[in-house]
Amino acid sequence: MSDRVYNFSAGPACLPESVLKQAQKDIWNIFDSGIGVLEHSHRNKYFDRITHETEADCRTVGNIPDDMAIFWMQGGATSQCYMVPANFLPEGRTADYFQTGKWANDSINEVHHYGNVHICGSSKDATYNHIPKGDQVKNSDNPAYVQFTSNNTIMGTEFKANPATPGDSFLVADMSSNIYSRPMDFSQYGLVYAGAQKNLGPAGVTLLIGKKSLIDNPVRELPKMMQYGLCAKKEGRYNTPPTFGVYLMGQVFKWILAEGGLTAMAEINREKAAIIYDFIDSQDFFTPHAITEDRSDMNITFKCPSAELDKLFIEQADARGLTTLAGHRAIGGMRASIYNAFPKAGCEALVAFMKDFAHVNAGATA
Ligand SMILES: Cc1ncc(COP(=O)(O)O)c(C=O)c1O
Repeated sequence: MSDRVYNFSAGPACLPESVLKQAQKDIWNIFDSGIGVLEHSHRNKYFDRITHETEADCRTVGNIPDDMAIFWMQGGATSQCYMVPANFLPEGRTADYFQTGKWANDSINEVHHYGNVHICGSSKDATYNHIPKGDQVKNSDNPAYVQFTSNNTIMGTEFKANPATPGDSFLVADMSSNIYSRPMDFSQYGLVYAGAQKNLGPAGVTLLIGKKSLIDNPVRELPKMMQYGLCAKKEGRYNTPPTFGVYLMGQVFKWILAEGGLTAMAEINREKAAIIYDFIDSQDFFTPHAITEDRSDMNITFKCPSAELDKLFIEQADARGLTTLAGHRAIGGMRASIYNAFPKAGCEALVAFMKDFAHVNAGATA
């Protein structure tokens, strides 16, 4: 890591070193064009190549079926909170949402602009420390779709199985913080979206993967910039796209393929998470936030015995080159975000520090 530290940021997050090095070159001169990637028109043959390779590599990585379109938009994952009901929720109908944290709530709070929202499962009463399942889930009678946040970045919980889709409803998933962290069957979804800035690239671009039959048939008339179908048909460049974000996402897809694809990602992600969780499970100084069966391989949330010790932990970790470990203000404590590009050695370094810290401060808990 030489002059770089271990960056546990939840997003924008660390990127693969080889991708950053390639980008350094391509910013100066890409494809021997004599022009850097930041300076090319989004309508020329070089950006055609970037667009088509990014789409094709994304399809290969995720094994995305042909009846699904791959495209990208701006406005962050947050814009999808209104885009989804605008495109998919007919007036008077209801959509079912899982309430599993802040990002889920942001989506829930936008639905009323277009139709009705039904919370089909909630872990709010337990500070979102688990994923509602079994008899904690009650769907509405005839939902248009069922939306869930597949990984709850702030809480450190992750759906291990997809929710049910009653009647002719379909699944919508906010996969911002665990997309392409492991193999997933994308044919099971009507729409998936993910802000790129965790597992896929830089901030400013949102990846969408949607069934063509759904995105081509919005339930109401919409402004052009809100039409999924048009955006997909125009290859994400109806207007000027975030060209660098698209390029970098493409480089990340190439990196995932070179590393062995999603099976390899899942294996290494499991190993990395296990390094930290195994340690947390072996002691009683640090307390995990998420219940064991629902904990995330991407965002690991835990606390010291007191808020003062949390603060000290974050300060001392930072001084050791373990940065951005503060938990989100919603739950406090610590959060270690260890997305695809985060190195295993960083997880080992964190555990070594956690051991030292617990040893030195154990007396303070009495
Ligand atoms: C799961 C999830 N959804 C949505 C968002 C919001 O993304 P954006 O800031 O790109 O709008 C985030 C941001 O961290 C997130 O983690």
